[in-house]
Amino acid sequence: MRGTQIFCRAGSLLNILRDVDLSTYNTLALAARADYFCELNNAADALQAIEFSRAKGLSLTLLGGGSNVVIAGPLAGLTAHMGIKGREKITESDDSVEVKFGAGENWHDTVNYCLDQGWYGLENLSLIPGTVGAAPIQNIGAYGVELEAYFVALEALALDSGELVRFNHADCEFGYRDSIFKGAAKDRYVITSVTLRLAKKPAPILTYPALQKALQAEGIGAVPTPRQIADTVCRIRREKLPDPSTIPNAGSFFKNPLIAAAQAEQLRQQFPDLVAYPQPDGKVKLAAAWLIDQAGWKGVQRDGVGVHQHQALVLVSERQHVGATGCALLALASDIQADITKQFGIDLEIEPVLLGR
Ligand code: EPU
Repeated sequence: MRGTQIFCRAGSLLNILRDVDLSTYNTLALAARADYFCELNNAADALQAIEFSRAKGLSLTLLGGGSNVVIAGPLAGLTAHMGIKGREKITESDDSVEVKFGAGENWHDTVNYCLDQGWYGLENLSLIPGTVGAAPIQNIGAYGVELEAYFVALEALALDSGELVRFNHADCEFGYRDSIFKGAAKDRYVITSVTLRLAKKPAPILTYPALQKALQAEGIGAVPTPRQIADTVCRIRREKLPDPSTIPNAGSFFKNPLIAAAQAEQLRQQFPDLVAYPQPDGKVKLAAAWLIDQAGWKGVQRDGVGVHQHQALVLVSERQHVGATGCALLALASDIQADITKQFGIDLEIEPVLLGR
């Protein structure tokens, strides 16, 4: 890590560094600098970081795995990297366990750990990049499962008071790739732990057609084991989504738009191949990937940034390319949005969190 140590409280290990390069702290590998930077290894570190930023009048930005952020420019104030680890069983019954995980635990390692313990439910969410603490912020979801189905509560430190606050399921206001932490509670808390309730008996969720097809193709019977589901999800993801360690990316760059059924019907008349999924509330979810692909953007490369060749929903950047900046990426995203509005009358919403603007 580069930078200069400027603050070290006696008896603690919280080092606050100056002018730190963040390219290894975001999976898009965008080069941007943090004015002040520190690593959080426990709740006491988090509290000190809050105190430090308040005393200096600095803003505080949290980074987890950096897998769902676009760092568009230099980050003023203090940037803290969440590294709080830990797994603690809270309660157990014949059917389920409640386990509290440190916010800095890697998500995929957590899924694997649970499977090894015989705690089920997270298998469809295998191989999602990022940390446990970031998972509730956007209510991560894949292959027919969303985090909220297993979520019990989280603990977070309030930035204004330093108090530890508990958020139960209802407090989080979960939605599609959404929670209160993207709205009213945005930038107001440091999430330190997440408690999940996992099943001790497998209850496979096989509603997602692509998952069903892949399991059938592998000759796996009607009732796959959780491990078989996890392995198959990993295989599909590896085939379709670029590995950020090879091709820097932040997963889906746009949300799948939800539109009125009548608008979807009109579009279908114009575009018979339109990929659309009716929702329980009567709306229709369109595949943003299909729209972007159809509009001719798939594989487009522009001076260090581009649209992935195999998955139009994923924007990519070129490691260490001088043009690969957050600004260039957002300019590309904005051109795509304008074109999709023009061609289909649909406004695409950016999914990752934007920082440094
Ligand atoms: N498609 C195209 N062109 C492409 C890619 C896909 O036309 O280049 C069409 C295909 O017809 C496909 C449809 O779009 O059937 C939907 O694609 P896919 O099944 O890959 O799912 P998605 O809607 O693109 C969502 C999530 C992913 C999640 C997958 C699987 C969002 C924004 N994205 O993608 O989440 O893994 O479903 O459940 O909801 C993420 O959030 O980072 C992420 C990867």
